[in-house]
Amino acid sequence: MSNSLASSNAALAARDLAVVWHPCTQMHDHESLPMLPIVHAEGVWLQDADGRRYLDAVSSWWTNVFGHRHPHIVAALKDQLDRLDHVMLAGFTHQPALHLAEELVRIAPPGLSRVFYADNGSSAVEVALKMSFHYWRNSGRSDKTRFIALTGSYHGETLGALSVTDVALYRNTYAPLLLEPILTPSPDAYEGEPGATPAETATRRLSDLRRILERHADETCAVIIEPLVQCAAGMRMYDASYLTGLRALCDEFGVHLIADEIAVGFGRTGTLFACEQGGITPDFLCLSKGLTGGTLPLSAVVTNETIYHAFYAEYRAGKAFLHSHSYTGNPLACRAALATLELFRDGTTLERNRGLSAHLARALEVFRDHPNVADVRQTGLIAAVELVRDRRTREPFPAAERRGLRVYRAGLERGMVLRPLGNIVYFMPPYVITPAEISQMVDAAVAGIASAVRE
Ligand SMILES: Cc1ncc(COP(=O)(O)O)c(C=O)c1O
Repeated sequence: MSNSLASSNAALAARDLAVVWHPCTQMHDHESLPMLPIVHAEGVWLQDADGRRYLDAVSSWWTNVFGHRHPHIVAALKDQLDRLDHVMLAGFTHQPALHLAEELVRIAPPGLSRVFYADNGSSAVEVALKMSFHYWRNSGRSDKTRFIALTGSYHGETLGALSVTDVALYRNTYAPLLLEPILTPSPDAYEGEPGATPAETATRRLSDLRRILERHADETCAVIIEPLVQCAAGMRMYDASYLTGLRALCDEFGVHLIADEIAVGFGRTGTLFACEQGGITPDFLCLSKGLTGGTLPLSAVVTNETIYHAFYAEYRAGKAFLHSHSYTGNPLACRAALATLELFRDGTTLERNRGLSAHLARALEVFRDHPNVADVRQTGLIAAVELVRDRRTREPFPAAERRGLRVYRAGLERGMVLRPLGNIVYFMPPYVITPAEISQMVDAAVAGIASAVRE
């Protein structure tokens, strides 16, 4: 076999399928679905082994904010590699970890002052859940052992994070292994009562939560939410007034507020953090994904002095927080995060994103009267199109028909990575996308949806 054949898409895919077990995948699908070996990436573009290019319209699972291989992040990583690769963070520290913590405290909502690192989003959620529980325990409230989550929530797939996740696809099989959360109805505007505005829906869902807190606050450690957009549930969006009301309820009833900004943080929703739009500071802010610009795994939980001091005591008091991963605060990942935050520093990103969001909104007008589209929604640089069998009744396509998969296939044929969540086609591109590329992305979705809704 010649070298070029040996490194072709077909050859690499065959080798891969012989040994690699992929995430979020029924491997049997690959008997017909192409497995794409990616050999190069730059900006919004991925390139496969046969030289074909694909626009990464989903930012590689929502991680990539400034485009692939951004020169500033690449240079920082190369420099860091020449200095320090890794050292454990217990008993040791290093410039990237401490500097990044200083920066996160500087940019986080006011009042957040302590940074605890982990190495992926789910682990950050584990940390926040455990820290909240342990805070109450250290404060003499061992009766607080439960968590409130929103219907449709997604917080990751390790057992703790999955416990506060309410997406059936991920949860149901493992339910016997999980903690039992208390679910409160989501303020999702799409599921609001007919005729209700998003703000009215938010107000009603706050009343629902109040009733739940009246019954359960004594046993509840925290309410955990995805601020503004419940991404994995299908980019379900809600009014910022819910955040404001939720903060007030958590204060009134004495429970923590955990804001999981793993998907929506770092400029996605139009502000650096989504919480800013509700004018709130959570007790725990979970960050990951965009934190390193999509280059390396890293996560952080940012919390406040009150929480921190409930753990601060003589060793023999047994109050220390115990949660450790070998790669906690890895210097390379922290350095990539610092370089990413530097890119936000000139202040132009959010401004530019507003222009891109407006362009995206105009391009999406094409779906407004589509007979199979029940809703077109957008928050910043997240947009979604809800495919249904019948626009008037909002009757969904049965999940088993896998219409979204048809959009995925059609997208790839047009050099576009669209990866619908069931019947929801969404767009979450890197911020370096151009208006022309946005139009290209929406055109590919138009074609994909046309083939997906055909009987
Ligand atoms: C809101 C939210 N929380 C947590 C996670 C889990 O992050 P990770 O996949 O890095 O474990 C995700 C991942 O998509 C997410 O969207």
